[in-house]
Amino acid sequence: MNPNPTAPDAGDVPEEDLLELESRYCSWGDTVHYARELTMFNRADGIYLYDVKGTQYLDLQMWYSAANFGYGNPRLNDALKRQIDTLPQLACQYLHREKILLATKLARKVESVFGEKGRIHFNVGGASAVEDGWKVARNHTKKNLAFAFMGGYHGRTLGASAITSSYRYREKFGHFADRANFIPYPYCFRCPYGMKRESCGMFCLKQFERLFETEYYGVVNKTGNAEFGAFFVEAVQGTGGYIVPPQGYLPGIKKVLEQHGILMIDDEIQMGFYRTGKFFALEHFGVKPDVIVMGKALTNGMNAISAIWAREELISPTVFPPGSTHSTFSSNPLGTAVALETVKLMEEEDLEARVMRQGAYFLSRLKELAKRHPQMGDVDGLGLALRVEMCQRDGYTPNRELTDAMMNIGLSGTLTAGGKSKGLILDVGGYYKNVFTMAPSLYITEEEIDTAMALFEEALLRGIAETG
Ligand SMILES: Cc1ncc(COP(=O)(O)O)c(C=O)c1O
Repeated sequence: MNPNPTAPDAGDVPEEDLLELESRYCSWGDTVHYARELTMFNRADGIYLYDVKGTQYLDLQMWYSAANFGYGNPRLNDALKRQIDTLPQLACQYLHREKILLATKLARKVESVFGEKGRIHFNVGGASAVEDGWKVARNHTKKNLAFAFMGGYHGRTLGASAITSSYRYREKFGHFADRANFIPYPYCFRCPYGMKRESCGMFCLKQFERLFETEYYGVVNKTGNAEFGAFFVEAVQGTGGYIVPPQGYLPGIKKVLEQHGILMIDDEIQMGFYRTGKFFALEHFGVKPDVIVMGKALTNGMNAISAIWAREELISPTVFPPGSTHSTFSSNPLGTAVALETVKLMEEEDLEARVMRQGAYFLSRLKELAKRHPQMGDVDGLGLALRVEMCQRDGYTPNRELTDAMMNIGLSGTLTAGGKSKGLILDVGGYYKNVFTMAPSLYITEEEIDTAMALFEEALLRGIAETG
């Protein structure tokens, strides 16, 4: 142990000592410790992370889709560096050009894809933006209650965890906001109603429609006035396991919401910014949102800012006046500068074509692998949001043990794919914690996909050997 642990800033503190300091001084409440052993990284480049020993890890998670445009993206890094040298700090009550240009570009983008005029409102972090979106909806509808999906994830502040399905996130802290009424998501591989997509006739949508038929289902009064003001939607369910809904489902939901004055809040925090091949994932499904929530990759994971867009009618200064929400750092100049460059990059590059092409190749390679390994029970995706659901040999029973083993093997940095030691970063999600939710850099090459597949298969074979 370092003889002087109160001054651990010498730059050469050994890894074991750092781990010891972490166990003593870092709260574990602000993170998740999924791995058997904690790995310490000290460099990131493109799609790779490097640990303190120099081992390279191919990252199929990219900070939960916050670093869509690659680690150390030179164009985005330069924007940040330029801003540091000009206007690094500024209280949000004053104006700076990057904030205005960023809001303009985002609002115009929404207008071009959804045909609606609106405004952009900034905050820091996804959960805060989710709460801002909820404030907009509550203010407009004067209704506190919301629908959300089973398996949905919207963050862990007290408000956001009320609309996140897991009770675990509320259990120790009581109720602050009324918890959502959770509706089954169209998770067709494990249909909550035990049906098959080919023959179900969208039974789940019909069940939702039925809730509004009579006051006795607890949603509307005799005249059809709903007790609920908002429905939080992830167009492709993220933490729930990268589940893609069937076409027609979300338009059906929206139709019912419109009939009852309920706003659709589209949470694009994880799936936005071309993760699925479109600027917003909801674009794939032909639905217009009332409010959009954005975060994560808006700044490529640097100087986090988040944002909401809302229809003019919901957010004009006359109805949502100054101070309706506030954070010291909400439109901080470093965040807005890098976000502005990120949006310019998305305007200039044909990311849709690239992501759909690379996603199709990645999915085809995963499907090939699944033919040889029945444990890969479901393989699916949209763009570069890909899912691999790990099962027992029957291809259906969830296999969390194997999933955990593979995740840990990837993180041990001891895979080789025929070369020197490498690691593979895999993120685990899903209702049974048995789904690899893959979110590689949007710039992943075919060669990198091939390497990822070799590493994945090696982890799978070692995982099967370990877990039996
Ligand atoms: C869909 C979705 N909404 C909200 C959040 C919360 O964002 P943050 O972790 O930045 O608060 C996340 C984070 O993973 C998310 O995936």
